[in-house]
Amino acid sequence: MTTKQLPNDFLWGGAVAAHQVEGAYNVDGKGLSVADVMTSAGTHDERKITKGIDPNYFYPNHNAVDFYHQYPEDIKLLAEMGFKCFRTSIAWSRIFPNGDDQEPNEAGLKFYDKLFDECLKYNIEPVVTLSHFEMPYHLVTEYGGFRNRKVIDFFTKFAETVFKRYRDKVKYWLTFNEINNQINYDRAFTLFTNSGIKIKPGENPEKVMYQAGHYEVVASAIAVQIGHKINPDFEIGAMVAMSPVYPATDKPEDILKAQRAMQARYWFSDVQVEGKYPSWLVNYQDAKGFDLDITEKDLQELAAGTVDYLGFSYYMSFATAASPNEDEYYSYNETNDLVTNSYVPQSDWGWQVDPKGLRYALNWLNDRYHLPLFIVENGIGAIDQLTNDHKIHDQYRIKYLQDHIEQMKLAMLNDGVKVMGYTPWSAIDIVSASTGQLSKRYGFIYVDENDDGSGSLARYKKDSFYWYQHVIETNGADLSKTVGENDEASQSN
Ligand code: BG6
Repeated sequence: MTTKQLPNDFLWGGAVAAHQVEGAYNVDGKGLSVADVMTSAGTHDERKITKGIDPNYFYPNHNAVDFYHQYPEDIKLLAEMGFKCFRTSIAWSRIFPNGDDQEPNEAGLKFYDKLFDECLKYNIEPVVTLSHFEMPYHLVTEYGGFRNRKVIDFFTKFAETVFKRYRDKVKYWLTFNEINNQINYDRAFTLFTNSGIKIKPGENPEKVMYQAGHYEVVASAIAVQIGHKINPDFEIGAMVAMSPVYPATDKPEDILKAQRAMQARYWFSDVQVEGKYPSWLVNYQDAKGFDLDITEKDLQELAAGTVDYLGFSYYMSFATAASPNEDEYYSYNETNDLVTNSYVPQSDWGWQVDPKGLRYALNWLNDRYHLPLFIVENGIGAIDQLTNDHKIHDQYRIKYLQDHIEQMKLAMLNDGVKVMGYTPWSAIDIVSASTGQLSKRYGFIYVDENDDGSGSLARYKKDSFYWYQHVIETNGADLSKTVGENDEASQSN
C-alpha cells in the first residue's frame, strides 16, 4: 500500500441525510415528506409507497435514529473521530412544510442553525444537500412532483431561503442527491424518492423521467446562480450515483451498449457540468418523439448555472451486454439491461463490491469533467452484531473502506485526480433508503434500534470508529491499524 499523504485540506468526514437520521417527522411544524409515506421492507423487497400515512403500516423514517434530539452527542462523537466535515441534508419540509408555503417555518430554520453551529464548534465543515429524497409530500399530491414545472420555483425559493440563512455557516452545497438514479425509470422507488412521481397507467416512464430530470437540472442551475449571488465563495456541486457500467465482453456491440449506458446514466451531470445537453440525447429524445417541455430560457439557465464541483456516491459497479435484437440507439433500460459480473463479489444485499471500480470511476469522471471531485458516499450495508459488552467487530466494513480508500489514493497520488474529500456512508447508523431497514447498517456508530423501531437508541462505537479515527489522524497515510477484540483502544473505550 502507498504511504504517501493526502493534501492537508482534504475533507475527511462522513455522510447522512435528514430523513434517514432525524426522525421528529411532525415536530416543530415539519410537514410530511415523500420519505414519511414509505414503509419498511425486507432485504430483497421494495418499500411500499402509501397514500398518506396508513395506520396499518410502520414508517421507519418517522423516528429514524432520533438525531433531531440527539445531535449534540452525535456530533461530539464525529468530532472525536476527527471529522473535518459532515455531510447532511436539510429536510425541505421542515423549512417549507407544504413546499408551496409563502413563508418559511422559523422553527425548522432554527434547528439547522443549531446543528451547523454545533458542527462549527468542533471545526467540522457542514456539506449540505438541498434535496436528498425528501420533497414535501404536498408537492406530490397537489402538483405531481417534478412532473410539474411549478416545482422548479418551489425548489429555488427553498434554496434561496437556506442559502441566505446559512450564508456564513455553510460553504459546500449539493443540489439534488443522486439525481441520475431515476435513469432506472421502471423502478417505482427511484422516481418517487427523487422526483415525487408515481407513473400513471398508460404513461411512458422514460419520457416522464426525462421531463422531470430536465426540470431538476434547470432547478439546479437556477439554484447555483442564486447561491453564487448570495455568497460568491459558495462551492455548489452536482451529485450523482456513480456506478460505472462495464461491457460484459469485448464484443463491439457490448462496448457500444456500455457506452450508451454511461451516456444515459451521466447525462444529468453532463448538463450540470457542461451547461448543455449532450448531442446523442437531443437526437435520442427527438427520435423517440418525446416532445419535452424544454424552452430557450431553460437552456440559458443551464448554461449560466454550471456547478463548481461534482459530488458522487460510489457503492458498486455494473455490467451490461447488448441483446441479440438491440435497436440502433442501444437504448438503455437499467431494469433489464444489467448482467452479472462474475469477477466481483456481492454484498448480502446483492451490491457488487468493486474497489478498483472507484479508481476507474475517479479517472473517468476526471477525464470527462475536469472538475474537482468529492466522494460524498461510499460504504457497505451489513448486519452488525452487538456483543454483550457493547462492542461491534465490523472487520468487513473496515476492509471495504480500506480497499476503497486505497483505490482513491491511487487515483489521487498516481493518476493526479483532484479529490476534495471523502465522506463515507454513513457517519452513524441510518434507516436504509431502499429498504427502510435499520439492520442494513452502514455507520461507524451503532444505534441500538431494530427494524420495527424498538430499541434503546443508545450509541456505541464500532471497531470501524477507531480505525477511521486513525485514518483521519494520519491523513490517510495509515489504513492498516488493527482494531478488534485484542486491541486496547477498543477495549478501554
Ligand atoms: C444512496 C443514498 O443511494 O445510497 C442514501 O444517497 C442511501 O440515501 C445509500 O442510504 C445506501 O442505500 P440503501 O438503500 O442501502 O440505504
